[in-house]
Amino acid sequence: MARVAVTSPLPGEALDQLATLHQVTVRQGPPLSGEALATFVGNAEALICLLADRVDAVVFERAKQLRVVAVYAVGVNNVDLPAAYGAGVWVTNTPDVLTDATADLTMALLLAVTRRVVEGDRFLREGRFTGWSPDLLLGTGLQGKHLGIVGFGRIGQAVARRALAFGMKVMYHSRRPHPEAGLPEAIWVSDLDALLGQVDVVSLHCPLTPQTRHLLNRRRLFQMRKGAFLINAARGEVVEEGALVEALTSGHLAGAGLDVYEHEPQVHPGLVNLPNVVLLPHLGSATRETREAMARLVVENVRAVLAGGPPATPVVGPGLPPPT
Ligand code: GLV
Ligand code: GLV
Repeated sequence: MARVAVTSPLPGEALDQLATLHQVTVRQGPPLSGEALATFVGNAEALICLLADRVDAVVFERAKQLRVVAVYAVGVNNVDLPAAYGAGVWVTNTPDVLTDATADLTMALLLAVTRRVVEGDRFLREGRFTGWSPDLLLGTGLQGKHLGIVGFGRIGQAVARRALAFGMKVMYHSRRPHPEAGLPEAIWVSDLDALLGQVDVVSLHCPLTPQTRHLLNRRRLFQMRKGAFLINAARGEVVEEGALVEALTSGHLAGAGLDVYEHEPQVHPGLVNLPNVVLLPHLGSATRETREAMARLVVENVRAVLAGGPPATPVVGPGLPPPT
């Protein structure tokens, strides 16, 4: 029996099943970071954590028994990956199981902001709906419009499939073209600035890395077409949030649909009063089915490592290339 430290209860039965095999300690409380997380891990051989817990180098320095950090998310930007790699600790994530849920939520944001769904709901609840009218809350249609997807991994590709079904034209920017996606209608654009200048909607689906932090900085936000929309269900720090507020309030951008924030859970005060912005509390993977599947996958990864094998969905680990 190995000790497994878990920073938060998870939906479903997976942790209970793990507890029949290993000594599982589940805490409740706000996210942990640094020394506090190292102390919580103690002599555990496995850590299951959330995206809000910060697994800094000190955890790998102090928790000498640690063999795997299983992140309950697809993005692992909360883990010091070089430190994990240096310590020979596996880091795993939960890809695939959340792809459809996240792509669906991206479409929900896109439709909500272009068709003014949230504004309309508010309008009605305020008692202002006095009857159908030819020019009431007119939005923007998607058919024939260009969607620019930034980051063409599983989620970006799933968004492309949905957008094509809505009659959009799809372009994407990523380091290399992705013919294996089987989406010949989606055009690869090697130059991000060129993509931004050509599309009506930009949707972000890249991981947060040192290279993608503030990828959409002020210059690039204003490089987007006037009247374009921005959707972000990836990571808040990919966008320079203060500059986004300027791009929206100046009327350069027509609207934004956001699920993530630069200083999460804080939201830039400039966003909160803008009617053309839809703000969600990081719900990308938030379906019961998906969250239970994510819990099963983190448990599967932990069990595999504790049994001496490689995990199912590693991000870094012994024998893999060093993180860049
Ligand atoms: C959610 O944001 C995730 O990375 O899974
Ligand atoms: C997630 O699964 C991605 O690679 O986009």
